[in-house]
Amino acid sequence: MWDYTDKVLELFYDPKNQGVIEETSEPGVKVATGEVGSISCGDALRLHLKVEVESDKILDARFQTFGCTSAIASSSALTEMVKGLTLDEALKVSNKDIANYLGGLPEAKMHCSVMGQEALEAAIYNYRGIPLAAHDDDDEGVLICSCFGITDTKIRRVVKENNLTTAEQVTNYVKAGGGCGSCLTKIDDIIKDVEQEVATTTKNANNGIKSAEILNSGQIATATRPLTNVQKIALIQKVLDEEVRPVLIADGGDVELYDIEGNTVKVILKGACDSCPSSTATLKIAIESRLRDRISKDIVVQAVEP
Ligand code: FES
Repeated sequence: MWDYTDKVLELFYDPKNQGVIEETSEPGVKVATGEVGSISCGDALRLHLKVEVESDKILDARFQTFGCTSAIASSSALTEMVKGLTLDEALKVSNKDIANYLGGLPEAKMHCSVMGQEALEAAIYNYRGIPLAAHDDDDEGVLICSCFGITDTKIRRVVKENNLTTAEQVTNYVKAGGGCGSCLTKIDDIIKDVEQEVATTTKNANNGIKSAEILNSGQIATATRPLTNVQKIALIQKVLDEEVRPVLIADGGDVELYDIEGNTVKVILKGACDSCPSSTATLKIAIESRLRDRISKDIVVQAVEP
């Protein structure tokens, strides 16, 4: 017995928006239809959208579904979710959104939510006169599962959007692998490939964040990616302004950043620092060691004449 949520059962026993939207001669309104699945495969959904042409808004949505409890509930949920949205807004509805609306679906039934999303896309692309094969479509990929006609593009997409990690999950979401099973190894390879891709993207994103954090915190030593020259100059200036100058100013001196060449930071000592007999110590202790500590151990500070 499937563990369905109350919402799934509610929409199964009392589906909202079941039926057809007939073509209409109403001015300013058009009807779009999208169809996915096939009765021979077990599930099929035909989605009808009534669209206000000028605003692109979905005025009404109805469905005809051949399928199980979750297929009916998913279709019904979808029609409730898209009413009132523009077509562009509706295109952002994911199968996850549909499942969430239902309070979740058993994993083995997630393909019902995917079917809803695909029917929605099909209807919108039909309405816009765009052949499905012309957009980022599954038909453009390489056929992976011949039992269910599923391409690598579709598998990649569902793996990414739903963070899937096993071939069994892929079968639950798009049925691929659920027939003869000869495609399961290929599905595993696709999952590994997507994981690798996601890991690389995440690493790059984290490096970007780290650089920004470094700029804020004044620490370059832990950077996993070299700072740009602009970032480096900004960071040195920040450390001087916030950590070095207040100390020097309190002693009647000051320092100004003059230039940076590689790891050599040229500064102008001012006020009491300029004439101080221990200005070398000031350079080494107050400025250089602080910059080395905060930015890079290779920094050398030089005093230049104004
Ligand atoms: S080829 Fe995928 S299940 Fe048969």
